[in-house]
Amino acid sequence: MPVLDLFPDSARIAQGELEVGGLRASELAREFGTPLVVYCEQTLRARARAYRQAAPNALVVFGSKAFPNLAVLELFAEEGIGVDVSTLGELEAARRAGIGGERIVCHGNNKSDEELRAAAEANVLYTVLDAPDEVERAAAAGIKRALIRVAPGIEVNTHEAIQTAHRGSKFGLTPEQTVEAVRLGSSLGMEMAGLHIHLGSQLLDLAAPRMLLDWLAGFVAVCRTELAWAPAVVDVGGGLGIRYTEDEQAPSIADWIGDLENRLERDFATHGLPQPGLIIEPGRSLVAEAGFTLYAVGVVKEPAEGPPWVAIDGGYSDNPRPLFYGARYEALLANRADEPSDRSYTICGKHCDAGDVLVRHIALPAPRRGDLLAVPDTGAYTLSMASNYNLLPRPAAVLVSGGKARLIRRRETLDDLFGLDVP
Ligand SMILES: Cc1ncc(COP(=O)(O)O)c(C=O)c1O
Repeated sequence: MPVLDLFPDSARIAQGELEVGGLRASELAREFGTPLVVYCEQTLRARARAYRQAAPNALVVFGSKAFPNLAVLELFAEEGIGVDVSTLGELEAARRAGIGGERIVCHGNNKSDEELRAAAEANVLYTVLDAPDEVERAAAAGIKRALIRVAPGIEVNTHEAIQTAHRGSKFGLTPEQTVEAVRLGSSLGMEMAGLHIHLGSQLLDLAAPRMLLDWLAGFVAVCRTELAWAPAVVDVGGGLGIRYTEDEQAPSIADWIGDLENRLERDFATHGLPQPGLIIEPGRSLVAEAGFTLYAVGVVKEPAEGPPWVAIDGGYSDNPRPLFYGARYEALLANRADEPSDRSYTICGKHCDAGDVLVRHIALPAPRRGDLLAVPDTGAYTLSMASNYNLLPRPAAVLVSGGKARLIRRRETLDDLFGLDVP
């Protein structure tokens, strides 16, 4: 079964059916309904351990925007992983998951004073300053330790919506502004501990971390000359991509981190700079491959031209990535996983918008109403970006392991949908 390797580590086909964490897709659909996002505990822990083993001396914080779920944050905390937050909501998620301030890095390109005060009260390890005017505001809010987010002007090879470090990016300070911000922050009594750069997301080759460290070492050499200052810590963000389709290749966590650390050591040594401590902030590469979405097939119909439509009971409200980023996915019929495909289909959702297409040109055995469609690699930036368009309740999520499933996010109800309306 070719696409099985895109599913979580515990996935297998048993008696013609997709099974993950020891549970058959049809059992999960019967117990929890569809659409359902299924997370494999074995995969989540394996990815967390891969980061911890590859970088035992680094602080690894989960880019929680990828899936800020309390059970997942707790699971990662057990694996020694902290959390990167960028709003009051994500900070609250970290607090509710019992993650101490010493394992929290606080971000945001437009932090409110309330957010800065909350970060100070939570005594987060570092607040990452993202604008020249944030330096004074952070000091006034009581922030003690800060990093500066610098935009190096590096354009990485990924969708433009998730490039974050090019010239003209809304994120970070220019190198010149960064030098000034370090000077000002120190004069205001903050510990200016270091620098942060996040190049972008879904990066599929090692060119990105190499460019990053080469540039960073050169910039730090300038800082040392101009400020007699060098960062005690560098936070290199997240960014490692994953394989969404059979034709994609992604570096392993070990290769990504190994390369990064080698470059950091080599480049800083070349400039005679002290080796800084390292923080990494993976999001997607920790959770995307652990999750897949199960949908029920409804209408199957033949248009006047083009491949047949297969409509599922969700759509871009539970996974906006195809619409936002032109993201491509594979899929299989979970209840007929060993049947040969007969032709190519297009998978659409149930929203009132022709752009509500989840997967194009996917070969499947002729889908029928009631079949279960499984879409792999939906563990990151799907539920966390979900909406209630067309007043569709958002799906539930379960964590599966050893033949047991635990609900980690309940399905929204119709009552939930009207909880905020004031009639
Ligand atoms: C500052 C920062 N750190 C980490 C991440 C996580 O990135 P990824 O999911 O690509 O690993 C992001 C994602 O947007 C981010 O903005």
